[in-house]
Amino acid sequence: NFIPTPDDRFTFGLWTVGWQARDPFGDASRAPLDPVESVHRLAELGAYGVTFHDDDLLAVEPDRDKAIAAFRKALDETGMKVPMATTNLFQHPVFKDGAFTSNDRDVRRYALRKVIRNIDLAASLGATTYVCWGGREGAESDAAKDVKAALDRYKEGLDLLCSYVRERGYNLRFALEPKPNEPRGDILLPTIGHALALINDLEHPEMVGLNPEVGHEQMAGLNFVHGIAQALWHGKLFHIDLNGQHGPKYDQDLIFGHGDLKSAFFLVDLLENGGYDGPRHFDYKPLRTEDAQDVWDSAAANMRTYLILKEKSRAFRADPEVQEALRASRVDELAQPTLAPGETWADLAKDDFDPEVAAARGFHFTRLNQLALEHLLGVR
Ligand code: GCO
Ligand code: MN
Ligand code: MN
Ligand code: MN
Repeated sequence: NFIPTPDDRFTFGLWTVGWQARDPFGDASRAPLDPVESVHRLAELGAYGVTFHDDDLLAVEPDRDKAIAAFRKALDETGMKVPMATTNLFQHPVFKDGAFTSNDRDVRRYALRKVIRNIDLAASLGATTYVCWGGREGAESDAAKDVKAALDRYKEGLDLLCSYVRERGYNLRFALEPKPNEPRGDILLPTIGHALALINDLEHPEMVGLNPEVGHEQMAGLNFVHGIAQALWHGKLFHIDLNGQHGPKYDQDLIFGHGDLKSAFFLVDLLENGGYDGPRHFDYKPLRTEDAQDVWDSAAANMRTYLILKEKSRAFRADPEVQEALRASRVDELAQPTLAPGETWADLAKDDFDPEVAAARGFHFTRLNQLALEHLLGVR
């Protein structure tokens, strides 16, 4: 039970298991990991595929061609897929003021070249999603960044990348990843809502969606499940980064479910029943305290937790008492349009409605919440 298989479509960034656990206060606590080993180990654990930043491939082999050849060989040997790729536009100091929105025009041009080079590789590996996390697109001082000009440049960069993909005929869509802060004091497109709004003003909005990360919305104090529901509602949930976070503090990138567990439960329930059919992608960091074996235990923990929550969601929905409680709370009534077919605003006046009576009715949400909690706690 709870043994992952490729049918579950679990994927991992090479940078997750490969994280050497350098933080602002301390050196690496683990040795570099060969992407080839990661592909094999993750395949053995039951994953469907891996994702990567251009530079992740160079972790132990500095020669790009050799590194790519070794990576391709590992994919062929294991049958692992690459549904998504992305660009490291944050590590090298050249990106210290951002990439697409650096004040330095030469840097902006270099950043776009770096993305285009990796898009070619991504497409050749069969990726259909290209993630853009604007890690250093931001500022620490409001005097330092003309935000309106920065958004012009963000749009210019994304429009250019879309036109490149169209000209090449690649089957690739872009997914923006919002984050409120870290490493910059403030990052542009800080939340799902900000990113959705920008997409509407692009040349090819249909080619650009979202890659929301659990912890990033929670860092901003927002409800991730609501954010994902809205992204789905707009048809913009192209990809997802699953992990854990304990509220507003530094980006923890915990194992999925090791942060806000109740939110993780409702997230799995939404993903499994809400029409998302993309990969279940983990973007987490094995704790800095962990050794080389713990890394693989932590990778397995992400998948196992997801599968347990999937089973909990199924049992929750199948529970007759839950179904009865949902009806008592009139959750289904919200799906009913507020006006009947053919009605107009003028018909509203005909209602025989007593607000005092309606105000006195309870919604019984307490019972629903407690039932969810009891399923999660394993006592039902
Ligand atoms: C973070 C981000 C990054 C990006 C990744 C893809 O934790 O701040 O999630 O991990 O997802 O770099 O570009
Ligand atoms: Mn992420
Ligand atoms: Mn993160
Ligand atoms: Mn991350």
